[in-house]
Amino acid sequence: MIIKFKENTGFDEMINRVVQGHCLDVLKTIPYNSINCVVTSPPYYTLRKYKEAETDWGDWVGQLGQEPTLDLYLDHLLLVTKEIKRILTPTGILFWNHGDSYDKNKCMTLQGYRLVLRMVEEQGWILRQRIIWAKEIWIKKENRSLGNAVPHPAKNRPNFTHEEVFILTKSEKYWYDPLYRIPHSRFELNKKLKQYHFDEFANENDFLEPNIEDDLPAMGKNIPSVWFISLGKFSVPHFAVFPPELIESLISMGCPSFVCKKCGKPRERIISKSYLPTRLKTRLVTDKTGADQDPYKSLHLSDIAKYESKVIYQHGGWTKCDCDTQFLPGIVLDPFLGSGTTAVVAERLGRRFIGIEVSKKYCEMAAKRIKKEVQQKKLNLVSLG
Ligand SMILES: C[S@@+](CC[C@H](N)C(=O)[O-])C[C@H]1O[C@@H](n2cnc3c(N)ncnc32)[C@H](O)[C@@H]1O
Repeated sequence: MIIKFKENTGFDEMINRVVQGHCLDVLKTIPYNSINCVVTSPPYYTLRKYKEAETDWGDWVGQLGQEPTLDLYLDHLLLVTKEIKRILTPTGILFWNHGDSYDKNKCMTLQGYRLVLRMVEEQGWILRQRIIWAKEIWIKKENRSLGNAVPHPAKNRPNFTHEEVFILTKSEKYWYDPLYRIPHSRFELNKKLKQYHFDEFANENDFLEPNIEDDLPAMGKNIPSVWFISLGKFSVPHFAVFPPELIESLISMGCPSFVCKKCGKPRERIISKSYLPTRLKTRLVTDKTGADQDPYKSLHLSDIAKYESKVIYQHGGWTKCDCDTQFLPGIVLDPFLGSGTTAVVAERLGRRFIGIEVSKKYCEMAAKRIKKEVQQKKLNLVSLG
């Protein structure tokens, strides 16, 4: 599972492996346009020291995050992001988790934002979204909090209970699962439909025909940019472990399940669009709207969503590739693998992975977790079979 990086380590050897080495050295050997998705979290500036993490950055030797200045730290991260942009496929995506810290004047560094700004301005990245990963939130109305974050004794500012996950791409068109949405439950859907009902059609069975019900998961609303995922109890002795739920979402939405073995093009979902009637007796053009204000007004095309139907997007299969050969799962890479969460989740979701980590101890920790995941998957298959 672990391979110690050497200059002649081949790309294929790294797939589904933990590569022990300095991320910059390893990234430089990965071919152009070969990685579908990068999920990572670097050491933050001045926050914590990692063991066995002394590396050579060309202009400075030491642990990433312990540079004498914030600018030098950002310069080093930019060397990493430059390589990430090079190795991502044109439709690839980067999920970059970066929290914050204070400088010696007790001023927030905004290190993640500073980095991303430079990535956009100097390297041409496209910043598509900034997810707020909230570990603990304040329910103001009830004056209590939900979730948990690392407590802090500060008496003159609120605690840090969220971090950012920046979503960056190298092209405007990138692979993203359009059906990765919050599904409507049957209950929610009926409630929605009832907003449009006349009493005489209020029987829900009039509206939810069996075939429509089957398609319910394909509907739903887009995911908000604030995610509440509290820190679970981790059995892993590493400082900064990702919660698997966070990574599950990122990989599911951003890493294709199938890429062409020959040209690397990802298969896209074919989305079919249909309309769920919400007022069965009202028909476009021929019938009237029945709107309260004017029941005899003709229905206009633009009124469809309002008066007649709800749009449903359904999964209609996957695109093919002209190469007409096999498909393989997309590849997720984490250049700061730590305890291995990105690789464990990639394995769980049936994607290929490459995990890079400088510390031998963390490589071993990650390898152990990945092996456990592989065994669990085998057990699940046996019990299914
Ligand atoms: C914030 S932690 C990542 C934690 C990870 N997301 C998890 O779920 O466990 C950053 C990791 O980067 C590693 N690291 C530091 N410098 C590195 C380098 N130059 N190359 C590769 N890994 C490095 C550290 O040893 C540490 O494990």
